[in-house]
Amino acid sequence: MQRILIADDDPAIRDVLKDLLEDEGFDVVEADSGASVLNALTASNGDRPGLVMMDIRLPDQSGLDVLREAQSSQGEGLPVIMMTAFGTSNVAIEAMRLGAYDYITKPFDLDDVLLTIKRYFERQQLSNQVIELSSLLGERDPNELIIGKSPAMQEVYKTIGRVAGSDATVLVTGETGTGKELVATVLHRISTYAHGPLIKVNCAALPETLLESELFGHEKGAFTGAINQRKGRFEMANKGTIFLDEVGEMSLATQKKLLRVLQEREFERVGGSVSVKIDTRVIAATNKILPQEIEAGRFREDLYYRLNVISVYLPPLRDRKEDIPLLVEYFVGKHRYRQDASPARVSQDAMNAMMEYDWPGNVRELQNLIERAIVLSQGGIITADQIDFYGADTRKLIDVGDYVRRGTALTQIMAEVERDALHEALQQNDGDRAAAASALGLKVAEFNKRCGERGL
Ligand SMILES: Nc1ncnc2c1ncn2[C@@H]1O[C@H](COP(=O)(O)OP(=O)(O)OP(=O)(O)O)[C@@H](O)[C@H]1O
Ligand SMILES: [Mg+2]
Repeated sequence: MQRILIADDDPAIRDVLKDLLEDEGFDVVEADSGASVLNALTASNGDRPGLVMMDIRLPDQSGLDVLREAQSSQGEGLPVIMMTAFGTSNVAIEAMRLGAYDYITKPFDLDDVLLTIKRYFERQQLSNQVIELSSLLGERDPNELIIGKSPAMQEVYKTIGRVAGSDATVLVTGETGTGKELVATVLHRISTYAHGPLIKVNCAALPETLLESELFGHEKGAFTGAINQRKGRFEMANKGTIFLDEVGEMSLATQKKLLRVLQEREFERVGGSVSVKIDTRVIAATNKILPQEIEAGRFREDLYYRLNVISVYLPPLRDRKEDIPLLVEYFVGKHRYRQDASPARVSQDAMNAMMEYDWPGNVRELQNLIERAIVLSQGGIITADQIDFYGADTRKLIDVGDYVRRGTALTQIMAEVERDALHEALQQNDGDRAAAASALGLKVAEFNKRCGERGL
């Protein structure tokens, strides 16, 4: 039988709760002071309560102090639900930070209380079934960057291996967050161009007028502001790899110039007449379906064939769900709550939820979600209620104060704030990306890029 300790100095409250919980088959014990709560918590296993309902004001000391003391002797995950007549944010935050399971305000609705308690015990049961993640990956090469054992990913590895030794142009396709840039990085590292640089160009982020000089460089005086000669990315990538990311976003005019360069393997800087030869491996990526773009007149068919000499297609995560546990293990190992913390663990119910989800943001979304869950679980066990799929409308905006108190890094906080802002803008504009972008003062391409990075 589950034992619950009710700690309150008001006997009337104790009576009400006792009746309620005994009717539900719980074994109820009582305490009227902080000292007796601490006593009960240090009792031997069989006598120790499975859950404590504790008033925040006890006659001898505050419930928060009891919590603090119990935590320093017991460690994380105290089975405590705090009760208070004052629902102030500071106390609530502090109680949760100190590891209370939940926090309820008086006067309470008895059905709610019961629900919270039952949920606690259910969750307790599920999170006791922690998954042995470390067994999943087995012997993994620590330098391995691409994770996944599904047949679809095996095909990807084979293609990468096959083209490693050639200088053929490669087109990497797949939905946002499927790992296109990662594949480009690996392709470069194992290629014969590995000793040269890997130069990345995000074709979506640059305005049309800049893209050309960015790619090909310009001569001094080529246009207003061109005070010096400048090398373009193609020249910088000499004897290395150039990665043309989001190539599907290029304007038709720039596509034409790119095609010429790929055909002739030489180009002129903007405003110049000297031709520059290129010795560069070209890798392009897009999350657009280029044949459709060609059909719609937005992409040149001849350029498509030039780029698509070898193609690597990265399937969406929902089509290779067997890779989810491996990826979870990988990201849990990579992101720590604090530098010196041991990896978080993942409960069976959390894993079940992740296996059922569709992952529109693919691996990036999974990675962001794990990072976030690690913060929420304070490095302990990640349970289903710490899993927060962005698609859900119930997402709360982050509480910066809470994050700072938890010692969260600024970069992580900024990332969360950005995600909240993007998410909120989408919500307020019913998913209309152009309107959401303009609400935040961003160009649509920039907005989409940031959404992609944040798994939205
Ligand atoms: N198979 C994988 N194993 C490990 N990490 C992965 C894998 N796939 C993607 N990632 C990680 O997920 C994140 C997103 O991947 P990446 O940037 O390569 O996606 P992308 O396909 O280029 O997305 P987009 O189209 O939005 O630019 C990166 O942090 C990357 O390291
Ligand atoms: Mg990318």
